[in-house]
Amino acid sequence: MRVLVVGSGAREHAIAWKLRQSTRLSQMFVAPGNAGTASIAQNLPVPSADVEALAQAAREHRVDLTIVGPEVPLAEGIVDLFRSQGLAVFGPTKAAARIESSKVFSKALMQKHGIPTAEAQVFSSYEAARRYVMKHELPLVVKADGLAAGKGVFVCHSREEALEALHQCMEARAFGSAGDQVLVEECLQGREVSVFAFTDGTHLSPLVAACDYKRVGDGDQGPNTGGMGSYSPPEFWTDGLEAKVRATIMEPTVRAMAQEECPYQGVLYAGLMMTQEGPKVIEFNCRLGDPEAQVLLPRLKTDLLDLCLAVLEGRLQEVAVEWSREACVGVVLASQGYPADYPRGFPIDGLQDLDQNLVVFHAGTKLRDGGQAVTDGGRVLTVTALGRTLEEARQRVYRNVGRIQFEGAHYRRDIAVLTQATV
Ligand code: AMP
Ligand code: GLY
Repeated sequence: MRVLVVGSGAREHAIAWKLRQSTRLSQMFVAPGNAGTASIAQNLPVPSADVEALAQAAREHRVDLTIVGPEVPLAEGIVDLFRSQGLAVFGPTKAAARIESSKVFSKALMQKHGIPTAEAQVFSSYEAARRYVMKHELPLVVKADGLAAGKGVFVCHSREEALEALHQCMEARAFGSAGDQVLVEECLQGREVSVFAFTDGTHLSPLVAACDYKRVGDGDQGPNTGGMGSYSPPEFWTDGLEAKVRATIMEPTVRAMAQEECPYQGVLYAGLMMTQEGPKVIEFNCRLGDPEAQVLLPRLKTDLLDLCLAVLEGRLQEVAVEWSREACVGVVLASQGYPADYPRGFPIDGLQDLDQNLVVFHAGTKLRDGGQAVTDGGRVLTVTALGRTLEEARQRVYRNVGRIQFEGAHYRRDIAVLTQATV
């Protein structure tokens, strides 16, 4: 089969790396890809948000199946467009992707169908939102309705912060129309976990869970990032918890989406808070997480291509989806200055000197003429290793990250370090 992967991050490199293990794969393209995907597939210079150009590329290269990594093309309706042209594509339709692209939609879905989540109110006027914030207990969470590249959520500990967040969303329009409506939400307390399942709209694969690290610095200090590392499975993820999340959150959501006439196909990603009242949904996403994918796909024993085809054909129950019992840890190496502005174009050295049992997924990298990989983004690489235990996987990664060098490289040293606060 000829497969196209859409995206350019370490998540998409991990998807392509996993697809490479499939015996049914004949040719693979990644659009636009990075230096890592160039070594296992043919990169196509098409931006991942340009869905029309992607459809044209899929036709030109006689692609049999397209797998979409990021949320933006899904929210733009890449699946609807491809299907209308007879092109097979893995992911939710535009209507189903609203589970991520509209927080108002997904909150209403959860409220209507009794799926546990934070209490929330929706506002479309600044004044009404302001009045609500003035009389409610703190902390509060203010969220722009639409996609905001991970920047539209504000956890507010003072009224000033909450009013400023409302101002940014609704008056300054920092996120454009994504801030036309906002949610003001109860702030949940507990451990966060990302939970994933493949679904064909009816059946649901076994769940898999990971923890990610959003802050740039050790001990969760400094600004938010796209994610500085992750590990799987979380130490608190038990069979009992999996069964509970499956029965109270994942299955009801897939059923609810079918009832609302936007059946959900693809990967369903629930961001959960483990509260004292049990797991509650913080948000849904319509895709694999980044950096979670980089620690989940190495644990997937099932052929990813078979799995995607079974989802598309509505016969997921025929495929035994298996996650290995091994642990996986991923540490992100980032450019100096990230998540703020950063320089690009520094040569990356040391990739040849790593232990055998490591996998490095590229994100912001590109190849210079002559084949040298150089930095080309904020998050540059995710270094991952499997181990029999979390500790073994973590040690394998950290024995190696220091050998990879580019000017200004930084990474967190506490990924998968279980502290008093986390255990
Ligand atoms: P999101 O962009 O929706 O993933 O939100 C970003 C982060 O904000 C989440 O990972 C949580 O850490 C935090 N967050 C969002 N909603 C809530 C909530 N209701 N209670 C506590 N924290 C939240
Ligand atoms: N790991 C967070 C995300 O992929 O949205």
